[in-house]
Amino acid sequence: MSEKVTSSSSDELQFQMDEDQANAEKSVSSMSLMKQNNSTDDIWRNINSNRDCFQKHALERTNALTFALETEEQVVPITDIHDSSKQLQSAADQESSEKEKSGVRGSFENKTILKPSPSVGTSLIHLLPEATNAKSNGSDSGCPSMMDEAWTRLKNSFVYFQSKPVGTLAAALDPSAEELNYNQVFVRDFVPTALAYLMKVPSHEPEIVKNFLLKTLHLQGWKKTIDNFTLGEGVMPASFKVMYESFQKKEVLKADFGGSAIGRVAPVDSGFWWIILLRSYTKCTKDYTLAEQPEVQKGMKLILDLCLSDGFDTFPTLLCADGCSMIDRRMGVYGYPIEIQALFFFALRCAQQMLKEDTDSSKLIERIERRITALSYHIRNYYWLDFTQLNNIYRYKTEEYSHTAVNKFNVIPESIPDWVFDFMPLRGGYFIGNVSPARMDFRWFLVGNCIAILSSLATMAQTTAIMDLVEERWEDLIGEMPLKIAYPALEGYEWNIVTGCDPKNTRWSYHNGGSWPVLLWLLTAACIKAGRPQIAKRAIELVEQRLSKDAWPEYYDGKKGRYIGKQARKYQTWSISGYLVAKLMIENPSNLAMISLEEDKKIEKPRLTRSASWPCSR
Ligand code: GLC
Repeated sequence: MSEKVTSSSSDELQFQMDEDQANAEKSVSSMSLMKQNNSTDDIWRNINSNRDCFQKHALERTNALTFALETEEQVVPITDIHDSSKQLQSAADQESSEKEKSGVRGSFENKTILKPSPSVGTSLIHLLPEATNAKSNGSDSGCPSMMDEAWTRLKNSFVYFQSKPVGTLAAALDPSAEELNYNQVFVRDFVPTALAYLMKVPSHEPEIVKNFLLKTLHLQGWKKTIDNFTLGEGVMPASFKVMYESFQKKEVLKADFGGSAIGRVAPVDSGFWWIILLRSYTKCTKDYTLAEQPEVQKGMKLILDLCLSDGFDTFPTLLCADGCSMIDRRMGVYGYPIEIQALFFFALRCAQQMLKEDTDSSKLIERIERRITALSYHIRNYYWLDFTQLNNIYRYKTEEYSHTAVNKFNVIPESIPDWVFDFMPLRGGYFIGNVSPARMDFRWFLVGNCIAILSSLATMAQTTAIMDLVEERWEDLIGEMPLKIAYPALEGYEWNIVTGCDPKNTRWSYHNGGSWPVLLWLLTAACIKAGRPQIAKRAIELVEQRLSKDAWPEYYDGKKGRYIGKQARKYQTWSISGYLVAKLMIENPSNLAMISLEEDKKIEKPRLTRSASWPCSR
């Protein structure tokens, strides 16, 4: 349930926990206790028994899942996540001096870390000249050497500014990498790295996360002008890099707010991730002083001001341009994409906990509360698709004019694509990609659905149904290499029109139905929250068979994700950190609390009726 940060007489912010939150906390801490006393298996037995109980209820409800999804039970198993070689060199130097100190240099070579691969002949050993035999961090079981390698590579991707780590490179030290995107810290890419360091055992290492939060906050304060047009004050950068200014003989930061990005789109997701990460940091470290700092409070408010300003909107969802999030190219996600709406909801709820209540912010807090209510109503009802709802839409009448319209957005049933009738299982459902006038984008997008689960935008019944869908459509959504970013791919004429003939986004490649290992952490977190860790375990096993052997590619291509992506960079940092976070969560499920919020029972779950959105009379 909701935690709230209020100003307090002490210097520290206090999280006010209501009863549910306190119970949830108890459940997490009892789990951490169990972790100390019992084995991981015991923890899972406990989760599984809760899950079975939850699933039993959920199964009973599945058939009755109606458009309104009004029934819900709160049986949650767990609670609430130099530009130059100088940079690289300094990271590498530091690493090697650490290695020398600990006397472990070169010991990687002596280890057999690879099983022979039937399809890939490469031995990773040749690619790992600098890898160390660092002590296994966080791996009690499974694949310790792969985790060791991941930690080493992650450390080698650190970017330093004035000798402090402030982020990680998008692609970690790939000797064969192209220049493009190679030497930048991407805000969204850094999130799984940050979580890995917050979850790290035996002790977390939050310093890089704090530095990153403060450095990006500083960049937000820059004047952002593209072609004489000034962007909103709250916009956070998509990425930044550290350059060496030889004239001044000092390091300087260079940020990109979309002006250099392909397609020139500002990243709407950066600000939301920043707020979400601030909460993760606070939750992990209990260092409330960071969130309480006036500059940090201001940064949060500026991000929210951008999204909460009044305008012409009739929907509570946020209108976006194509390419404003992880899918940063034209892919037909313009409008009201689920990824952004779910992140928006998540960030609003995190800000609700962290904003200090004073005269200055009380109005903003009220607006946040109202928006959370409206947004959850809108998404839970209008984006939800399951067998029953698909059938309803299939039978929609059109041209209904008045408040009592059932087909509120005038969706023409003929616009439902054929594939969705086959794809939709009797058991399961998901939030579709986009809803706007006369347009429903029926595609599946993983990020939006997982974030909806983690933020509790999805009701418990919807969470169960999403997990059911993943199981029922395993071959399509997971295949041989997790995970499909979007399903299905756009092909032929549609690809032509929607992507503008984008040669990088051809069918079943990259954003257009490609498979992205980084998404493993999101799936794992969502599975744990849903009480279905076995789904994540299956996916992790698949990743462990190939990811390291394939040199941690950015993405895979093909219907089943069998082929390394045609333009995929190797040693992509978030492929590495995504794997680590998934492992750290599956080994210690209480880590989920850092990146998940309990359901807010105050949010109404209205039954959708003909007149449910009748506006003025009530
Ligand atoms: C690609 C991805 C984007 C990511 C960037 C850096 O542009 O589409 O989501 O942030 O690479 O890895």
